Amino acid sequence: MPIYRLSIVILKNKINFNRGDDVKKVITYGTFDLFHEGHYKLLERAKALGDYLIVGVTSEEFDRSRGKLNVVDSLVTRIENVKKSGFADEIIVEEVQGQKFRDIKKYNVDIFTVGSDWTGKFDYLSEFCEVVYLERTKDISSTELRNSSHPILRMGIIGTGRIASRFIPESHLVSGISVTSVYNPKKTSADAFAEKWDLNSYSEENGFDEFLSCVDCVYIATPHQFHYDYAMKAMKAGKHVLCEKPITLTKRETEELYDFAEEHNLVIMEGIKTAFCPGFNKLISMACSGKIGTVRNIEACFTKLENPKSRELTDTEYGGSFTELASYTLLPIIKLFGTDYEEVRFDSIKNEKGIDIFTKAYFRYKSGMATATCGLGVKSEGQLIISGTNGYILAESPWWKTSYFEVRYEDPNNIEKYSEVFLKFGLRYELSDFVSAINGNKKNDIKLTKKESVAIAGIIEEFMKTKNQ
Ligand code: CTP
Repeated sequence: MPIYRLSIVILKNKINFNRGDDVKKVITYGTFDLFHEGHYKLLERAKALGDYLIVGVTSEEFDRSRGKLNVVDSLVTRIENVKKSGFADEIIVEEVQGQKFRDIKKYNVDIFTVGSDWTGKFDYLSEFCEVVYLERTKDISSTELRNSSHPILRMGIIGTGRIASRFIPESHLVSGISVTSVYNPKKTSADAFAEKWDLNSYSEENGFDEFLSCVDCVYIATPHQFHYDYAMKAMKAGKHVLCEKPITLTKRETEELYDFAEEHNLVIMEGIKTAFCPGFNKLISMACSGKIGTVRNIEACFTKLENPKSRELTDTEYGGSFTELASYTLLPIIKLFGTDYEEVRFDSIKNEKGIDIFTKAYFRYKSGMATATCGLGVKSEGQLIISGTNGYILAESPWWKTSYFEVRYEDPNNIEKYSEVFLKFGLRYELSDFVSAINGNKKNDIKLTKKESVAIAGIIEEFMKTKNQ
């Protein structure tokens, strides 16, 4: 009898659904940034391929690691939008390369699907499940939406040294920004750099104001002592500023720059690359998670043997290990212990010109202690050790380009290992956060706060005061 048969079928489906046997499981992945019609239609068709749809939404770190910078929406918002579409039965986070294969096995997936822009790229998964490429919706993408909502920012570089040359190829990997011009007071230097990187050249001859008038933002890569003037002039002309570290050498100047930016609705960021890279952020989260107990001691060391004839080891006023490297070694200390230290002391070894070739800063906080060690003329093991009441974190050199660290405990066999990507020179991370900040996204504000930047400048200032004692 038909009615009887129907009820059996439903029952069968129910049982099978619970057991997960005949349920056709479909999985798809994406960033789903600025959720648009293309995403909706993709999910709608993905769901129609089976009974149960799993959607993998990429984590911010994963996107960064595969070079997808400038995603506007946070992970939470992107998950929320996928949920709102009503097609996803389950949402997971895609965190690492190679996860798709594991997910397919883990969730017993029958069909893997993505848009036709990926045709062929996932054929290797057909060994484990059916692979379906769905026709991509025409004329819409997150990239287009990102670019149309925010015109491409024109950036000018001030300074033409080593770091400026590293910056240019990194900037090509960040969407939403294009380096168009360079400024160096010396015409020959500006012209040579401009020619190498195909930029407009500005020098004292055709003027700093002209340079500023044709850009939206600047990257300051000059020797430290010129940062303040260039940054202030640029902001007075209404330009956003990304400034190499140390942003200035005094607390007051740093405060002034940030205050000016706040009052005029501009973005100023100090380019301590470590602060913006995914690995360092993971390390800090781990230290704050309680895993190693309460943090009691931090030892941060960075040494880099410099040519004795270099500016860093001959400039008696602004040269030396501490002004050059302290931004890195102070960063984990300030991030974890805060800015209210009870005491700081410095000890240096100097060269014949009186420039510090090796400096240790000792901190005493209410709850712990720390040392920041910097060397341009003495080589040591560049480690970061964060010691807690339950265990410690060890990040070996070059921890300032954090790609690997370990969490260790009393039991020497109990070691947790963490790795993260740090691509090439690592300047893309700060630049990508700079672009999102200009575009009004505040999600990265915590990576390096005004208070932290000001505190770091204040410590460098304290050190400089003790230099001639
Ligand atoms: N998709 C689609 N049609 C579009 C845009 C995306 O079918 N017009 C599909 C993609 O092929 C992918 C899924 O939606 O399967 C998620 O894509 P995602 O990369 O998040 O979106 P895009 O708009 O392609 O993002 P971007 O421009 O940043 O690459």
